Amino acid sequence: MNNVRAERTMAEFMNQLTRETIKELIVSAMEARKRSYSPYSHYQVGAALLTESGQIVTGCNIENAAYTPTNCAERTAFFKAVSEGITDFRAIAIVGSPEGDALTQYAYPCGVCRQVMMEFCNPSDFQVVVAKSEAEYRVMMLEELLPEGFGPSNLNDSTR
Ligand code: THU
Repeated sequence: MNNVRAERTMAEFMNQLTRETIKELIVSAMEARKRSYSPYSHYQVGAALLTESGQIVTGCNIENAAYTPTNCAERTAFFKAVSEGITDFRAIAIVGSPEGDALTQYAYPCGVCRQVMMEFCNPSDFQVVVAKSEAEYRVMMLEELLPEGFGPSNLNDSTR
């Protein structure tokens, strides 16, 4: 078995993303970032959400003259997917930096976006990739970003 195939088999076994898939998500997030509508903050964000079936749904941040209606890139991707009937997700890649081609920082999701992820994703399973380039990225589980999060299962707890 060659190395790429071995890595893929191991990653699938561990329910992790392959480097190949991570790169594909990062490139999709970079493409989405080009469509960022951010004339007020000049901070451009792109996201690429990987569905359980292997589809990639992208999103960008969309700002508004009234400021508060602004939608983050991550939530744009989630709301696009959910509104199309997709509710099972594996991972999301996020790229964000001040206007310009260079990705100068890791853009971690804001608290509101973490809560939206919590609504649809298993926190011990869902992987969040933040990237500066195709080769420079970090992968975390949602539960690391939102420890002890409040989610739909809390409302079904019969031991209250
Ligand atoms: N933003 C995102 O798109 N995602 C985040 O997780 C953090 C912030 C956007 C919102 C706004 O358009 C700009 O970045 C500056 O806050």
